[in-house]
Amino acid sequence: MTRLFLLLISALITVAGALFLAFVLWPLQPPTSTIPPSGDVARGAYLARMAGCIACHTNASAGGAPLAGGLALKTDFGTFYSANLTTDEEFGIGNWTVEQFAAAVRAGISPGGRPYYPAFPYPFYAKFSEQDIADLWAAFRTVRPVSLPSRQPDLSFPYNFRPGLKLWRGLFLDSKPFEINAEKSAGWNRGKFIVTGPGHCGACHTPRNFAGARQVAQRFRGADGLPGGGRSPSITAAGLQEARWTMESLKYALKTGILPDGDIFGGSMGEVVRDGTSFMSDEDLTAIATYLLDKEQ
Ligand code: HEC
Ligand code: HEC
Repeated sequence: MTRLFLLLISALITVAGALFLAFVLWPLQPPTSTIPPSGDVARGAYLARMAGCIACHTNASAGGAPLAGGLALKTDFGTFYSANLTTDEEFGIGNWTVEQFAAAVRAGISPGGRPYYPAFPYPFYAKFSEQDIADLWAAFRTVRPVSLPSRQPDLSFPYNFRPGLKLWRGLFLDSKPFEINAEKSAGWNRGKFIVTGPGHCGACHTPRNFAGARQVAQRFRGADGLPGGGRSPSITAAGLQEARWTMESLKYALKTGILPDGDIFGGSMGEVVRDGTSFMSDEDLTAIATYLLDKEQ
């Protein structure tokens, strides 16, 4: 009886071990994509700025070269480092294919089938179209190579266990492509694309749960505990209305960083304006304001 019991237990342990190993080693499969063969460099560079790729992947305060990575992002889970995105073939993405680039940016999956941490805001970038990816890729191909290895994050257990992200993805990842709402104007749709996609406004304006995932029901209602300890206000239509924002003041603040009362945006929003929204076209700023001020945002 005891022998049978021991046999059963060891069989169970073996099965559990094998399942665990399969879970760890199982490579993620990116969705198939058909990226157009040529892209527009200028449009790609505009999207890269809008999406914060350049700001986050450049360690500007330490004098780092553009897109060579190494910027430290301190979070509750530990410190992440942005990767080298230059054309360096050893440490950058110089020998990647456009399909591998698409899988990383839209699905958070590395060329080896491993998951990326969502400190890289790829859940938002799932909204990029095939043409957007082609344009981004064309722009990244023009970046000067820099021979600097990317750093792995410094995280404590269990967050340092990268395969655990497969579980996180199953529970929280929403990677639906962008859908046009035919009942709304082109401007409204463009605004929605920027705000919920590359602009990743929800990364800071939507509160997160214990696992660092955005709480869908609290979308845009403002959040505590941003990297650096800041707090963001609500950017729901009701919240913006209560704070007396108008189409004009919103566009002006996103362009210049100057608020209606003459003050300026503080904390990380100052950086969002400096590195992102201040470079956007008037048309795109109008689109953002149109979408945010609509109750059906
Ligand atoms: C807020 C910071 C941030 C922004 C914005 C950001 N990234 Fe990243 N990115 C990261 C971090 C952090 C990693 C490393 C993730 C990890 O270790 O799992 C990363 C990793 C990557 C990788 C994988 C590189 C490799 O060597 O495996 C690619 C490709 C990438 N980012 C492209 C982009 C593009 C394109 C954009 C803009 C559309 C972008 N990133 C915007 C932080 C950012
Ligand atoms: C990196 C974090 C971060 C991101 C990303 C971000 N914001 Fe903010 N935002 C903040 C913080 C922090 C504040 C508060 C600024 C202050 O106190 O001066 C703020 C304030 C604002 C306000 C002022 C609201 C009010 O009533 O005072 C607006 C409007 C706004 N953000 C819009 C946006 C839009 C649009 C985007 C996307 C394009 C965006 N934010 C992306 C962090 C962020």
